[in-house]
Parts: sequence; structure tokens; C-alpha cells
Amino acid sequence: GSIHVFAPATVANVVCGFDVLGFAVNEPGDEVIMRLTDKPGITISKITGDDGRLPLNPAKNTVSVSVQHYLQSLGRTDIGLDIELHKKMPIGSGLGSSSASTVAGLFAIKTLLGDDSDAATLLPFAMKGEEMACGHGHADNVAPALLGGFVLIRSYEPLDVVRLPHPDGLWCAIVFPDVDVPTREARQIIRNKIFMKDAVTQWGNIAGLVSGLFMQDIDLIGRSMKDVLVEPVRSMLIPDFYIMREMAMEMGAVSFGISGSGPSVFAFTRDEETAKRITQKLQKHLTSIKIGSNGYVSTI
Ligand code: HSE
Repeated sequence: GSIHVFAPATVANVVCGFDVLGFAVNEPGDEVIMRLTDKPGITISKITGDDGRLPLNPAKNTVSVSVQHYLQSLGRTDIGLDIELHKKMPIGSGLGSSSASTVAGLFAIKTLLGDDSDAATLLPFAMKGEEMACGHGHADNVAPALLGGFVLIRSYEPLDVVRLPHPDGLWCAIVFPDVDVPTREARQIIRNKIFMKDAVTQWGNIAGLVSGLFMQDIDLIGRSMKDVLVEPVRSMLIPDFYIMREMAMEMGAVSFGISGSGPSVFAFTRDEETAKRITQKLQKHLTSIKIGSNGYVSTI
């Protein structure tokens, strides 16, 4: 048997929910083609779209490593597999690129083996892939890539993942400025002690955002998407972050912030047209400061 699986890009943190909130977009995303073979063990026969940056060695690639963990848990290491990975989004972009590949791989093997358990059972294996990719097994990209929509990681130990509703007609503009921000490093620069005053602001905002999602209150969502803990530090790694924010907000964005650990930024809008205009404007601005970029517009 063989199978072809797509898994989407994701926006983690959603501004105020560092490591606990994320949502999936329609595009971009990665594709995995997986085939069962006669020879036990995993091979990676092809990777495209990565400019040669990802390892073909199955012991070093996050897709094969997480698939291997899954097979071990089932006691099925006798299985032979070949993987093709087609990257359809930039690596190190803050769009959950490694998560999309890992989730596509895990979903492929689960389906090939006819494992009909809930998709959420794959989460711990996908988190292993994240741990390998950046040194920390956070779930705010893999959970939405796997489950779709908006997801809250209420707790890591024990893992407790909650799917959240969101208002219809919420659009997302995403711009990836082509500069290097490895997640591992973007995690190292964050303060690990915070003031109570800042914590109070932050949890007020997270509660406001989640309430806004349930109440379909886009104004409340916008007011709540503020981050006093992580953004002030990480924004320094993103070219003209505050200028881009001002541009997006002036053009009618509901909110604006860093996607995951950056350098991608995203804005929520109430319609497709505004999302398109914001994407074009920010990309034009990045070109004017000699930085290449990719832009995406998606519903949520
Ligand atoms: N929550 C993670 C972080 C997401 O901000 O480091 C990485 O994409």
C-alpha cells in the first residue's frame, strides 16, 4: 500500500498564548508519500523543496524519528517503509514547518496500518519530533496540524488538549520575511522569570481571547491579542516588526503578531480582501528594505 498525506502550516502562540494556543491554516502545508516495503526499517528516498537542508538519514529526520517511535509503541518495528517528503513551505519560518511534515508522516503510517484510534493519540509522537527539531516538545503546532482549527494545550503533564471554536469569517494574513530565526534560539532569549503584574496582564488576555472565540466576538479577540512576555524580546529578531504592525493595524487588521517563534508575522482580518491587501503591503515594505518574503492568505 501507499498513501499521500497533506498536513497544514500552523500559527502557534496566537500572540498571548505562548506554548498553549495554536491554529491551522488552509495553506501552505507539507506532503508525505509513504509506501510499505518488504525490507524492515525506514528509508527516506526523496525530499523536495528543502534546498538540501533536511537530512535523508532516517535517524536524523523528524518525520522518520517520530514514525519510528510510533511503530515502537505498537511493537511493529518489523515493518518496512519508504518516505518521500515534499516541503511546500519555508523551513524555520515560524509556521510549524517541521510539525506539518511530522504530522503528515504520522497520519500516513496510522492510516497505512489501519489503526483507527483517535488522531489525538498521535500527539505524543509528534511532540517527540518537535523535541528533536528545536530541543523542546511543545504541542502548539503539532496539535492544530493534527486536529485542525483552533487548539488549546490546557496542560502538558498530563497532556490535555482542547479544541476551541472560532467565529466564521475570520481571515488570516501571513507574511514570512526571509531571515533566519531558529526556534531553538528564539526560545533561549526569552526570560524565564516574569513579574506578577505581567502574568496578570497575560492571563487576562488569554482568557479574553478564548472567551472571544466562544462568543464570536471579533473585537474582544482583537483587544486580547497582546503579549507582554515574549513579543517584546522576540520582536527584535524580526525586521521592522513594529512598522509592519502599524501598517497592518492602519489597514484594518483585527490583531497582529508573531507566528510561533517567528520570523513570520500574521494578522487577523474580517475579510479576505483586507488580508490580501495587508499581505501585499507588508511584502512590498520588506522588498523596500531588501528582504525577500512569502505571503499567504487563509481562512481559519
Ligand atoms: N510555542 C513555540 C515557541 C512555537 O514559541 O517557541 C514554535 O513554533
